[in-house]
Amino acid sequence: MKKKASRRTFLKKATLGSAALSSAPYVFGAPYHETRLLKRDYRNESFEANDQIQIGLIGAGIQGIHDTSSALQVPGVTLVAVCDLYNGRLDRAKELWGNDLLLTRDYRELLAQKNIDAVIVATPDHWHMKITVDALRAGKAVYCEKPMVQRFDEGKDIIEAQRNTGRICQIGSQGMASLGNEKAKQLYEEGAIGELVMLDMYSDRYSSEGAWQYPIPPDASMETIDFDTFLGKAPTVPYEPKRFFRWRNYRDYGTGVAGDLFVHAFSTLNYVIGSHGPNRAMATGGLRYWDDGRDVPDVNITLYDYPKTDTHAAFNAVFRINFVAGNGGGSGFKLVGTEGVMEIGQNSLTLERSKLNMIPGKYSMIAYTEATQQKIREEYATKMAEARTADLKTGTLTWNAQKDYKGARYDHFTNFFEAIRGTSKVIQDPIFGMRAAGAALLANESYFKARPVTWDATKMQLT
Ligand SMILES: NC(=O)c1ccc[n+]([C@@H]2O[C@H](COP(=O)([O-])OP(=O)(O)OC[C@H]3O[C@@H](n4cnc5c(N)ncnc54)[C@H](O)[C@@H]3O)[C@@H](O)[C@H]2O)c1
Repeated sequence: MKKKASRRTFLKKATLGSAALSSAPYVFGAPYHETRLLKRDYRNESFEANDQIQIGLIGAGIQGIHDTSSALQVPGVTLVAVCDLYNGRLDRAKELWGNDLLLTRDYRELLAQKNIDAVIVATPDHWHMKITVDALRAGKAVYCEKPMVQRFDEGKDIIEAQRNTGRICQIGSQGMASLGNEKAKQLYEEGAIGELVMLDMYSDRYSSEGAWQYPIPPDASMETIDFDTFLGKAPTVPYEPKRFFRWRNYRDYGTGVAGDLFVHAFSTLNYVIGSHGPNRAMATGGLRYWDDGRDVPDVNITLYDYPKTDTHAAFNAVFRINFVAGNGGGSGFKLVGTEGVMEIGQNSLTLERSKLNMIPGKYSMIAYTEATQQKIREEYATKMAEARTADLKTGTLTWNAQKDYKGARYDHFTNFFEAIRGTSKVIQDPIFGMRAAGAALLANESYFKARPVTWDATKMQLT
């Protein structure tokens, strides 16, 4: 991971504005309009059989399988146990990772295994806090999927459990560990876009899968699924496979588009600009299309205010999600500043540098006589020369990840395992995770209360 700039260096760069830019030769030296490489050096480490980090997976659904596959690519990691509430998922684990695994429907049995060093918690959101706290108390390191919590009041339980046990706990918004996000942080700190003015984030989806209509397997039944355990702290309802396989659609188990998608954007944003988060949110939207029993909106627009801090100016963030986007879909994450814009991805980044000038345009000059126009032009002669010099520092730069880049998930797990081995610190600890989750949950709070809500991002409390 890139070393954090000291606050002094950072402030110097951020406040010097364009003066600092001319002294940052790598990024801002000519030529512009070019593509550069983002590169990560992979070490070819190997570990003895007795030096493996042994992991268990709790929640072997879509993300649990993606996570575990990435974790197992990191040298020195072995999977020894899998827990899930649906037999078909345990069968799938066997199919993918062999017959030697301990398979169970009860996560407490997995946590009781002395040979397990770390667990991945990839259950639905309403189980994150309880299983993470139990796992930390059982002495395990924990990789807990995002959003860290389903409810605001759960944050302190994880933060305290991590503090009291001293165990490693990484929260799973993997994007911020990516090459693209790391580059964005570096550029932002060098002043590449000047003062931050706006974040523009959107996700348009146009598929049943994108709208969380996951397939329900034909063998789903009360026998193959432990539905009562799935419900956990949620209200008791009769068996309904939709709730189990499409839990994101229900407030009892999920966190809507905010906890599912906004939280990633907050992790990236807070990381890149070194922020604790917003202090106000206003959400609107509605259930426009997916009338399938869900009780969360499929269109959501939320505006957030970020107050001025040492690392950024006061700015506004716009988050927009549309699950019935007839444009076919797409997504974006753009930081807009006084001197440019950065489109940030995990594998690529584009920086467009610009320079505002004060030269009057044709639009307003038309209302003056030719003689007056000439006088005005003479008055602006110095500014015109400055604008020409400034123009030389504008242009577009694109960075793309190396062809064999292993991706954000691999990076995030590498960071987790390095922290367990004591050679690094987790990039997304529970406090960071709670700030991202809390900011996301504000959107739900505002949407369902139909009013703006305010938040102390440092204390992680509604105000
Ligand atoms: N980081 C990312 O990019 C990303 C992407 C997708 C999902 N996620 C997160 O991962 C989590 C899982 O999402 P998913 O799409 O894999 O859901 P999923 O429904 O596919 O899988 C969840 C699994 O958890 C199991 N489960 C539920 N309660 C359990 C319990 N008490 N004990 C053990 N197993 C239990 C279910 O049987 C199911 O197989 C969610 O929190 C989601 O927000 C993160």
